Amino acid sequence: MSARELGLPATVTASDMPERVTIWEVGARDGLQNESDIVDVGVKIEFIERLADAGLTTIEATSFVHPKWVPQLADAAEVLAGLKPRDDVRYPVLVPNQRGLDRALESGVRHIAVFASATETFASRNLNSTLDEQFAMFESVVRRARSEGLDVRGYLSMCFGDPWEGAVDPAQVARVGARLIDLGCSQLSLGDTIGVATPGQVEQLLRELAAAGVGVDQLAVHFHDTYGQALANTYAALRQGVRCVDASAGGLGGCPYAKSATGNLATEDLVWLLDGLGIDHGADLDKLVDTSVWMSQQLGRPAPSRVVRALSGG
Ligand code: HMG
Ligand code: MG
Repeated sequence: MSARELGLPATVTASDMPERVTIWEVGARDGLQNESDIVDVGVKIEFIERLADAGLTTIEATSFVHPKWVPQLADAAEVLAGLKPRDDVRYPVLVPNQRGLDRALESGVRHIAVFASATETFASRNLNSTLDEQFAMFESVVRRARSEGLDVRGYLSMCFGDPWEGAVDPAQVARVGARLIDLGCSQLSLGDTIGVATPGQVEQLLRELAAAGVGVDQLAVHFHDTYGQALANTYAALRQGVRCVDASAGGLGGCPYAKSATGNLATEDLVWLLDGLGIDHGADLDKLVDTSVWMSQQLGRPAPSRVVRALSGG
C-alpha cells in the first residue's frame, strides 16, 4: 500500500502553531521564470488551472516585468486571458513599475506584488536601480494601484544572504521591510532568494521586524531550497505565528538575476508538513502530485520535490 493509502503522514497537532495557513503558490511565476526554453502558453494555463483544481486559492500567475529581462513571462496577458474566472481563487502578478501596472490593469488584475531588494547589489541587478530608487519606483505604483482598489503585496529579496554581499544585517532588512509596509503594502513576503537561511536567522529577523513595528500577521515567508533548509525555516516561521507560506508546485524555481538561486520550497513538501502538524490548508496533495508529475513531463525533467518523488514512485 502507498503511504497515502496507509493514512500517512500521521497527525500530531501542536498547540503553538497556527490552525490554518495560506499557501501562496508561486510555481507559475517563480517556478517558470528561470526556464530557458519558452513554455507554451497553453501549458502555463493548464498548470494554473490544475493548481486551482487542487484547492489552491492564491496562485501567482505571472509577471508584468520587462519582456527582455524575463522572456519566459512575456506572454503574461495571454496567460491571464486564458484562465477561467473563479470567485474563490486570486491570481496575483508581479509589477515593478508604472508600465507594468498599466499592463496589469489592462488584463483586469486585482492583486499585484512589488518586489524590493534588501541589498544594493541585488537592487541594481534585478531592478536596475539603487535601494532608494526602488522605493521611488514603487511609491507611485503602490499609490495608484491602491487608488484603483488593488491589493498590493511587497516582496523583499536577499533577507538572509546575498550572493555578492554575503551576510545581510537583519536590522537593515527590517528597516527596508518596514518601508514597504509604510508604502501601503498589505503583506511583506520575506525572500530567502538563494536559500541560505537557517531557522535561528528566521527567528532573529522576525524579532527585528516586530521591533520595527511589523508583526507576524503582516508577514509571509518565501524560502528557496538551495541548501535544503526551506522546510526547517518554514517550521521556525510557523512557530512564531506566520500564517502565509510561499511555495512552488514540484519545487520548481529560481531567479534569473540571482546566481545560485534554485527552486522554491515545494508545495507538496509543505503540505506534507502541514498535514503532519494538523494545520488546515485546503489543498489536495494527490492532485498536486499529479500536477507536478504532469508538469515535469512538460519540462522534460523530474520535479525536485522529495514528496512528489516519494508519492509518484519517481
Ligand atoms: P530598465 O531597463 O531600467 O527599464 O528596467 P526602463 O524604465 O529604463 O525602460 C526601458 C524600456 O523598457 C522602455 O521602453 C520601457 O517602456 C520598457 P522604450 O521606451 O525604451 O521603448 N519597460 C517595460 N516594458 C514592459 N513592461 C514593463 C516595462 N518597464 C519598462 N514592466 C525594470 C527596469 C524594472 C523594468 C527591469 O529591471 C525589470 O523588468 N526587472 C524585473 C526582473 C525580474 O523579473 N526578476 C525576477 C523577479 S524577482 C524574484 O524572483 C524574487 C522573488 O521571488 C522573491 C525572492 O525569491 O527573494 C520575488
Ligand atoms: Mg523567489
